[in-house]
Amino acid sequence: MKGRVHPKLHYFGLIVLFLAMSVILFTLYNRTFIDLSVSKVAQKKINSKCTPAVSTAPHVTKLGCSFYPLFPKETAEVDLLRDLVAWPETPPVPSNFSLNKTSDPAHSSFTILPQKGAGSWHVGDELEVLIQICDFHGEPKKSGGDVILARLHNPALSAGVAGQVLDHRNGSYSAVFALPWEGSAQVEVTLVHPSEAVTVLQKLTREQPDRIYFKSLFRSGSVTETTTCNVCLETTQQNLCNYTNVYTGDRWFCYKPKKLDCDARTTHYKGGFNQNLKPLEEKLFQSNVNMKVSIPAVGPANITVLPKLKEENRTAKTRRSGYYYQGAWRALDGTTVQQFNNSAAISQCLKGKVVHMFGDSTIRQWFEYFVKSVPDLKEFNLKNSKQNGPFMALDYARNTLVTFRCHGPPIRFSSILVTQLRYIANELDGLKGGTDTVVVIGIWSHFSTFPIEVYIKRLLSIRKSVMRLLARAPTTQVVIRTANPKSLTLYEALTNSDWYSIQRDKVLREIFKGVKVRLLDAWEMTLAHHLPHNLHPEPPIIKNMIDVLLSYICF
Ligand SMILES: *[C@@H]1O[C@H](CO)[C@@H](O)[C@H](O)[C@H]1NC(C)=O
Ligand SMILES: *[C@@H]1O[C@H](CO)[C@@H](O)[C@H](O)[C@H]1NC(C)=O
Ligand SMILES: *[C@@H]1O[C@H](CO)[C@@H](O)[C@H](O)[C@H]1NC(C)=O
Ligand SMILES: *[C@@H]1O[C@H](CO)[C@@H](O)[C@H](O)[C@H]1NC(C)=O
Ligand SMILES: *[C@@H]1O[C@H](CO)[C@@H](O)[C@H](O)[C@H]1NC(C)=O
Ligand SMILES: *[C@@H]1O[C@H](CO)[C@@H](O)[C@H](O)[C@H]1NC(C)=O
Ligand SMILES: *[C@@H]1O[C@H](CO)[C@@H](O)[C@H](O)[C@H]1NC(C)=O
Repeated sequence: MKGRVHPKLHYFGLIVLFLAMSVILFTLYNRTFIDLSVSKVAQKKINSKCTPAVSTAPHVTKLGCSFYPLFPKETAEVDLLRDLVAWPETPPVPSNFSLNKTSDPAHSSFTILPQKGAGSWHVGDELEVLIQICDFHGEPKKSGGDVILARLHNPALSAGVAGQVLDHRNGSYSAVFALPWEGSAQVEVTLVHPSEAVTVLQKLTREQPDRIYFKSLFRSGSVTETTTCNVCLETTQQNLCNYTNVYTGDRWFCYKPKKLDCDARTTHYKGGFNQNLKPLEEKLFQSNVNMKVSIPAVGPANITVLPKLKEENRTAKTRRSGYYYQGAWRALDGTTVQQFNNSAAISQCLKGKVVHMFGDSTIRQWFEYFVKSVPDLKEFNLKNSKQNGPFMALDYARNTLVTFRCHGPPIRFSSILVTQLRYIANELDGLKGGTDTVVVIGIWSHFSTFPIEVYIKRLLSIRKSVMRLLARAPTTQVVIRTANPKSLTLYEALTNSDWYSIQRDKVLREIFKGVKVRLLDAWEMTLAHHLPHNLHPEPPIIKNMIDVLLSYICF
C-alpha cells in the first residue's frame, strides 16, 4: 500500500497543498517586512504582528527584528545560547514606579560567611560571602536580577581576583572567591545596576534596537546624499539598499537615496543616539547612587589567608582564569605568564611572526601598545584615520608584521570608507595561516544595543572561518579577547552597559568552546585589577594582557 493514494484523496491533497503554499508565501512576504521593522512608532503594532510564524521560535515576538529564521542549520545551538544568557526575572517598572522600592547599594550589605569546620582559611580554599540587596527604605528585596560584581584584593600585595556571583533569585546573592595568595584579602562588592534598571535595559533592546543609528554618504559626480542605515530598518523593500554580506549572511541596510543608486554608497559612520527614557527611569542609572556603587560590609570585609595545607586536597570549585600578584597576572589554566618588560623582549617574541588583529577599539589598543612600546616596530603610514585604520606595522629586520583592521558594521566609528568596511570572517578566509601566523580577535562592544541574535550570528560566521583556517593551517594561533567591564554614565549604560557585555561575553565563550583557540580573559583581568573599570583598560592592565598574549605566542 505504500505510496498509493486514492485518486479523490490525491485531488483533495493538491488543493490542501495549494492552500498551504499560499499561506507560506504570504507569511514569507510578511516576514520580510517585519524583519526590517524596528522603529519606535511601528514597534507596538509590529510586536503584535510578530507572532512567531515558525513554531520553534517563541522568542521572535519579543524582538524588533526577527533574526531567528536566519539560522536554519543552527536553531538548536541558538536556542542553547539564548537559554545561557537568560536573566532572572526582574521587577516591572511601570510609569509610576517608586524609586524607593528599587535596589539601593547603600542599604544593602554583604557578610563574610564563617569558614566551615576548621574556622580559618588557607590558600586553595574558597571564601563565601552572602549579599543581601535592600531598597531605599532598607527593606530586603524579594526578587533577583540585580547586576553585581565582586572582587577580592590586597592593595599592599597588588593582588586581586574576580569573584563569582550567584543569584538566589530572592534578593540574596552569594559571591565565591578563590584564595590564591597568603595574607590579607579584602572583599569588594559592587552593585552595577539595580534589577529595575535591567528591566529598562531589556525594554530598550526590545523597543529601540535602533537607538544607535548609522549613516552612509552616497556620491556620484557632484551629487551627494546621506541616508540612515542599520541592521534592520522600517520600510518597504523598494526603499531599501540591501548590503547584507552574501558570504556570511550578516545583514546591513540603508534607506535608498532619492536620486542615487545603492552602488553610490561611499562611507559608513555612526549617526547618533536616540535617548528615549522617561526622567524617572533615568534615576535608575545614577553614578554614586545606584550605578557601579560599592555595597558595604556588615562585620569585617577582610580575612587572613594562611599558607596552603599540603596534606589535604582542598580543590576549590570556583574556576578562575587567573589573579594578580604583585601587579602581575598569574594564569590558573596552566599557562606560565612571562613578563615582557622591554621592547627587546617583545621584539624577540615577535621575530618572524605575522600578527593580524581584528575587532573593535579594545583590540586597536593592543596594536597601539605594540607600536608605542617597540621602537623597531615601525608603523607604515597608510594615511588612515586614527580611529578606523586599517593599520600596519613592520619590523623589517626581524621579519615581523603586525596589522589591525576594525570589524564590519555595526562599527560605531567615524566616517570609514565602505571599501575598508570588512567582515572578520571574510578577512580570515583570505589568510594563509601557518606556524608563524597569529590571529587576534576582539569583537563585542558595538553589539550591545541589538538583540543578542545579531551578535550570535556574527560569531557563528567568525567561528566557521576560524575552523576553516585551522583546517587548512592547523598551526595557526588564534587568540580571542573577551569583553571587559567599563565605567558607566547614563549614556554608556544605555548603549554599552556591562549588563549587555556580560551576556555577549557568555555567548562568546560558549561559541568558541571546543575550538582550538586561546581565550584572553579581559573580563577577569579588568575586574580583578585595582584600577577603575574602563572600556579601554589602563596601561598596567594592557601590559598584563600583552604579557598573556605573548606568553601564548612564545611559549
Ligand atoms: C501606579 O498606578 C497603578 C494603576 O494606576 C496603581 O495601582 C499603583 O498603586 C500605582 N503605584 C504607585 C507606586 O504609585
Ligand atoms: C522616598 O522615601 C523618602 C524617605 O523615606 C521620602 O521622603 C520620599 O517621599 C519617598 N519618595 C517617594 C516617591 O515615595
Ligand atoms: C534565598 O535563597 C537562598 C538559596 O536558596 C537561601 O539560602 C536563603 O535563605 C533565601 N533567603 C530568603 C530571605 O528567603
Ligand atoms: C538582502 O540580501 C540578502 C543576500 O543577498 C538576501 O538573502 C535577503 O533576502 C535580502 N533581504 C531583503 C530584505 O531584500
Ligand atoms: C582588615 O583590615 C583592617 C584595616 O585595614 C586591619 O586593621 C585588619 O587587621 C584586617 N584584618 C584581617 C583579618 O586581615
Ligand atoms: C589527594 O589527591 C590524590 C590525587 O588526586 C589522591 O590520590 C589522594 O588520595 C588524595 N588524598 C586525599 C587525602 O584525599
Ligand atoms: C618585569 O618587571 C617587573 C616589575 O618591575 C619585575 O618584578 C619583573 O621581575 C620583571 N620581569 C622580567 C622578566 O624582567
